[in-house]
Amino acid sequence: MGVRLVMLGPPGAGKGTQAERYARNRGIPRVSTGDILRDAVQSGSEMGVAAKIVMDAGRLVSDEIMIGIITERLSRPDAADGFVLDGFPRTVGQAEALDDWLSGPAPLVVVDIEVPEETLVRRLSTRLICSVCGTTAVPAASVCAKCGGALTQRTDDDLEVIRERLRVYAKDTRSIVEFYRRRSTFRSVDGDQPQEQVAADIASAIASVEGVRQ
Ligand code: AP5
Repeated sequence: MGVRLVMLGPPGAGKGTQAERYARNRGIPRVSTGDILRDAVQSGSEMGVAAKIVMDAGRLVSDEIMIGIITERLSRPDAADGFVLDGFPRTVGQAEALDDWLSGPAPLVVVDIEVPEETLVRRLSTRLICSVCGTTAVPAASVCAKCGGALTQRTDDDLEVIRERLRVYAKDTRSIVEFYRRRSTFRSVDGDQPQEQVAADIASAIASVEGVRQ
């Protein structure tokens, strides 16, 4: 059984960047609830239209919708041998639902990426993404490195919305760090370092959990 990993951290901590990289290295899917919701917005579905209003305000989509989305996604065959969750869970209700839903021999490994608030605000307010494929742009790029699309700001990376996302994180999401912290499979890493170093620290944190389990 591959790893079942939850990547925690505030907006801008680098969850997406690191989840993508780790999932690719391990050959398991990265499941990003933010990406799933943005795809729904793009498709113009009823759920996407409703989610866009909530996301653009920096608030959270309801637990009921998110738990439905994630249990459907994790039921697909490609997640049977492990996955990396990015952006889920975000409330204690979601964390409890995930525990209830999961069974089997591999416990959740939880990695929390810690980054100071001023760094988060700087990263998010300067981030550009591709308007076509959604990929985060590399620094100083003028077009998307993946598809050549034009770069744009994410609609929730407006400074006022960033502040609201950070408030919502402190109010609703930080408590799940405490929910998981007492588990032997919880690790935290310093995310205020170059991406390569954060990736190396995450890989050793996960290896240390897997070493204990063997
Ligand atoms: P989501 O897309 O999950 O947004 P988020 O949690 O706010 O996280 P971000 O994607 O902004 O940041 P990240 O931590 O992934 O950092 P990244 O790697 O991109 O969710 C969006 C919205 O959807 C939510 O606000 C909510 O409305 C809704 N939603 C989603 N899930 C939900 C749920 N479960 N329940 C309810 N609602 C939900 O990096 C950020 C930037 O920093 C990038 O430019 C990157 O290149 C750069 N960077 C990364 N690492 C480093 C580094 N080490 N050094 C320098 N720069 C770095």
